[in-house]
Amino acid sequence: ETETNNFVINDKVIKNIFKPRQDFSHKGTYGKAILAGGSYGKIGAAVLSTKSALKTGAGLTFTLAPKCGYEILQTSCPEAMFIEGGTDYIENFNVDGDAVCGVGPGLGTNAQTVKSFLQFLKKYSKPLVLDADALNIISHDQKNLKLIPKKSIITPHPKEFERLFGETGDSFERLELARKKAYELEIYIVLKDHHTQVITPKGNVFYNITGNSGLAKGGSGDILTGILTSFLAQNYTEEETAVLGVWFHGKAAEFASEKYSKESMLPTDVINEFGKVFE
Ligand code: APR
Ligand code: MG
Repeated sequence: ETETNNFVINDKVIKNIFKPRQDFSHKGTYGKAILAGGSYGKIGAAVLSTKSALKTGAGLTFTLAPKCGYEILQTSCPEAMFIEGGTDYIENFNVDGDAVCGVGPGLGTNAQTVKSFLQFLKKYSKPLVLDADALNIISHDQKNLKLIPKKSIITPHPKEFERLFGETGDSFERLELARKKAYELEIYIVLKDHHTQVITPKGNVFYNITGNSGLAKGGSGDILTGILTSFLAQNYTEEETAVLGVWFHGKAAEFASEKYSKESMLPTDVINEFGKVFE
């Protein structure tokens, strides 16, 4: 057992991580983000994660989605480029080598999607952001856990966490299991909750205290995936990305609830507050 540390993500932590945009720069400076997700009836999840990547500063943003999402995505996110991955759900993960990829929002678990995602994982070795159905697919078989590329960031909510790693009695037990798994698999675990925890491969834990119950709505997780994929594409380290990302997501939610209330605010409203968080 190595010694581990616990940190609260405060303003000072964030100021040390955040890199303001440089004057002498171009889109290549800020990386390529690919959001892979969406299926018939869940294209909104791909829209939200894509918009979220666009509005957090990625240089180039792509959506890998099925054809049924083509017009929806090109209309709602004209700044993003579309990569067709199937008809009603993704059947192939054609991912450019120098991009950073976030997989999962609205992906679905169609047999063909499952097969091609696992095939993709077998060949892919760069860190990924994995969420939602990407995690649910992995949790079908314990052997799949080893396919997660080292240093990837996974973002399970408590149910997804238990599907992946087994049942836990309470949040303390869950945190201990997360520390063990982050170490064994050499991954970053973003354990989503009221106070989200970032667990590093070394077993350090960062507690996030931004955010509120206005985020307790379908789509809130999808925008976190976009934020993380975008920051990782912009060359923040995996640890910086996870810490900055969860703080940023919560802070934007606080601005949105001030404007619209926790009841009425939507994930789209949260995205529209990103600018204020950067300021
Ligand atoms: N306080 C603070 N933060 C909260 C609260 C709360 N009370 N409730 C939720 N959040 C935050 C979480 O920390 C997390 O960042 O909102 C986000 C919710 O993420 P998800 O649980 O993944 O929710 P969702 O966007 O609906 O996921 C979309 O993917 O997880 C699957 O099946 C799920 O259909 C769903 C889809
Ligand atoms: Mg989710």
